[in-house]
Amino acid sequence: MKITVTVNGDERTADVEPRLLLVHFLRDTLGLTGTHWGCDTSNCGVCVVWLDGKPVKSCTVLAVMADGHTVRTVEGLADGATLDPVQQGFVRCHGLQCGFCTPGMMMTARWLLDHNPDPSEDEIREAISGQACRCTGYENIVRSVRWAASHEREVAPR
Ligand code: FES
Ligand code: FES
Repeated sequence: MKITVTVNGDERTADVEPRLLLVHFLRDTLGLTGTHWGCDTSNCGVCVVWLDGKPVKSCTVLAVMADGHTVRTVEGLADGATLDPVQQGFVRCHGLQCGFCTPGMMMTARWLLDHNPDPSEDEIREAISGQACRCTGYENIVRSVRWAASHEREVAPR
């Protein structure tokens, strides 16, 4: 089937099999390997992207379901050479070790801060509760999101 998906602002058209998952469309068809693929059972959340402005696990969405819709991936977070505050927070607060969960965590964090610019620790933990980090105790991930929130409030209000 021919589908056209707007990915990070660009219209991308491709012929895909009806069974192709969105995560594989992004990674294998479009070469956007920033979105990771971890479990295939919708448990780990490393595959989170935005579909029409909402975080989804892209291993639970067929590529054909995104036809005519808008997808934002981790490659679409930065503004040119300027990292998104969430990305800056993960760098500054050591929010990653191996980095495997990081793209999905950042996409969820960005969505959270767009809807709640001053989230509590509990709200951050709730937001990322569908995502697993195999490396950390989540402390630095939460700290990274809190840094991004306070940075945005003080320096770059959205
Ligand atoms: S690969 Fe999608 S939730 Fe694990
Ligand atoms: S940093 Fe390794 S899985 Fe989260």
